[in-house]
Amino acid sequence: MDRAAALMGALAARGGPRLPAVEWPEELASTSDRLKALARAGAPEWTTVLADRQTGGRGREGRAWASPPGGLYLSVLLRPRFEKVGLLPLAAGVAVAEAAGELGVRVELKWPNDVLVSGRKLAGILSEAASGPGGVEWVVLGIGVNLAVDPATLPPDLAGSATSLRAAGGADVPVAELAAAVIHRLGMGYDALAKDPGGVVSAWRARAAPWWGAMVEVRTGEGGLRGRLLEVDDDGALVVEVEGRRRRLLSGEVTRLRPAAAG
Ligand code: BTN
Repeated sequence: MDRAAALMGALAARGGPRLPAVEWPEELASTSDRLKALARAGAPEWTTVLADRQTGGRGREGRAWASPPGGLYLSVLLRPRFEKVGLLPLAAGVAVAEAAGELGVRVELKWPNDVLVSGRKLAGILSEAASGPGGVEWVVLGIGVNLAVDPATLPPDLAGSATSLRAAGGADVPVAELAAAVIHRLGMGYDALAKDPGGVVSAWRARAAPWWGAMVEVRTGEGGLRGRLLEVDDDGALVVEVEGRRRRLLSGEVTRLRPAAAG
């Protein structure tokens, strides 16, 4: 049985979701780029693309995502019909956290959906969407999880800040099993978003790195700002107090400032 069939079988055994099609070549430039092409051509939701390695893996904020063999590189197509589509990236973070938990690794989430172990990055999620006259037409969730890549073999700027499930003491499982766990948990979060979006935000908050009240810097496409981290609100926005005023942010990269730098 090939790996795509094994993944579909593992999901059927877990009770879904049912994947209409799975592509899993050894190498792609980017699983999300491939899936976006399929989405534009009308592929149904839960169409899934994986690769053993990526040559042009992309991260958030225009960064590259190092993708050597030994990681999970997964993209899933969704065509949401519920209102709170903006919560999907948070639901995906919760799904990865729950899948890591199945392997015995406890993680923390950093807004919007970085997955950390002891402050080191284990996984990242890239959410890309296209809208039409009727609203959001599709969302491609790209999920990268470092399963067994030795962080020391990653580019020097990542070596000190990355970790893997293996390095964190997680159970050693094949990539297909981790993929099944992530997709299964994502399916549960996706259903919950239609019925109980507040529950998804609560699940995210319960796993959030406890930075509330700390001074942070948030870099966005328009520049950066510094302020006190207040909360993640019910729509998944980050709320920061800047010079006495609440600012809501929908995207950006958060860094905690050390007391001396916080000023
Ligand atoms: C981040 O910057 O934290 C998000 C990283 C997302 C990486 C994944 S790997 C699978 C999918 N394909 C890509 O090119 N990127 C995403």
